[in-house]
Amino acid sequence: MTATLPPGTRTGGPRGWPLLGNLPAFARDPLAFFESLRDDYGDWVPWSLGPRRGILLSRPEHTGELLGAVESTFKPMELGWALHQLLGNGVVVSTGDDWRRKRALVQPAVRPRQVASYAATMVECADALAGSWREGARIDVHQEMARLTQRIAVRTLFGSDAAGREAPISAAMATAQRELGAEFRGLTLFLPSWVRTPGRRRMREAVAVLDEEIEYVIREHEAASSAGAERDDLLGRLLAARDEHGGPLSRKEVRDESITLYIGGHETTSTTLTWAWQLLSGAPEARARLTQELDRVLGGRLPTHEDYARLPWTRQVVKEALRIYPPVWLISAVAAQGASIGGRAVPAGTAVWTSPWSMHRDERWFPDPEAFRPERWDADAPRRAPDHAWFPFGGGPRACLGARFALVEAVLVLAVLGQRFHLDSGTERAGVFPGLTLQPRTPVPATLVAA
Ligand code: HEM
Repeated sequence: MTATLPPGTRTGGPRGWPLLGNLPAFARDPLAFFESLRDDYGDWVPWSLGPRRGILLSRPEHTGELLGAVESTFKPMELGWALHQLLGNGVVVSTGDDWRRKRALVQPAVRPRQVASYAATMVECADALAGSWREGARIDVHQEMARLTQRIAVRTLFGSDAAGREAPISAAMATAQRELGAEFRGLTLFLPSWVRTPGRRRMREAVAVLDEEIEYVIREHEAASSAGAERDDLLGRLLAARDEHGGPLSRKEVRDESITLYIGGHETTSTTLTWAWQLLSGAPEARARLTQELDRVLGGRLPTHEDYARLPWTRQVVKEALRIYPPVWLISAVAAQGASIGGRAVPAGTAVWTSPWSMHRDERWFPDPEAFRPERWDADAPRRAPDHAWFPFGGGPRACLGARFALVEAVLVLAVLGQRFHLDSGTERAGVFPGLTLQPRTPVPATLVAA
């Protein structure tokens, strides 16, 4: 697992196929591929994804340089047809002045003060879920967490309620995840946009369901504001926003930002919570500390936003789950003219990749990396990982806008549900599927046991 090159290790990068480069190995298992590049070739490895030549970085300081330079000497990478279908030209996929304008538009809805105002809704939704659970029942953890975080995202960001509509939305999200994963790992990434494939048809159908949901909440919002009930949520801000000529955003722009935040706002948090429960299920000591902390700090009452700061162990559980299973498992950028990293030139047009998955599982920064140990993050822990060794939210100018939202939500949901239930999914961890986010490959069945 170490990346210190032993004598005789091959240097440079892996040999690739004509045209395909290293695509077959990447497509087979991208997560293992990145770990093997690091272990076999070191911290700076040239490789190619089809015709695209690139470098994998595995040193935290290089990752820090890359993230800091995106939007100056690097630009985000074009990520293919399927992601564009889903996110349109939203903030995640736009660049330059267009990106700056969109980021400024979205940011106020996820500022710490605004997130504090969402906490009560997060707790209320989690409490309603706990109220519907019965001791001894079997649940699918991933499905329950997806529905919960969906409901929270729709209520906090759009002032609406997805009640009754969660099932088709979850099914559409699952299809989109599969198709995005398949495109990213196959040659279809390089197919022109006019080519039709069965996968693209499935993706179009899934996006249509999500579009319908967004259209529904936009219409609900418009009806509320024409009745004089302006809402101070993300959608309200997008609808009220004016461009430099004083005009409103187009319907398409509102749709693109809404869906970006909707997906960013629930998909990542639902997988974080699923993995956290699964890790806790296999770690009785960590679980006991969680129960003790919740008893001591909350004593049976529901948490508030202020309790986020009072629950250090719960926060460490989330941080450690994000380390072992970072929902965004790959970050990439393309060098513009004159780029360099670690003092080495990166030719214009080169793709540069860095992977939270392989960095978080590098024993140089995290000894015994597969082990779930929230105590790694104790304030007085003997060894601290270097900056950028843990980067589930990216970093630099394009760092995740919703990090605070996600952390507060994950901690409050664990606190509400963890006070009442232990989600017993056994000790064996589910396999992983690297789609748009890092998903469990199979359902995660669990028995509800009183905490
Ligand atoms: C555990 C949960 C989350 C994780 C792990 C996560 C991770 C990330 C990462 C790694 C990036 C940067 C991607 C890159 O540089 O290529 C990002 C960007 C972004 N995230 Fe998150 N995210 C999470 C939750 C959220 C939430 C809850 C929201 C919104 C409410 C959100 C909104 C965004 C947006 C808008 C961007 C684009 C920022 C930009 O390009 O300027 N994320 N996220």
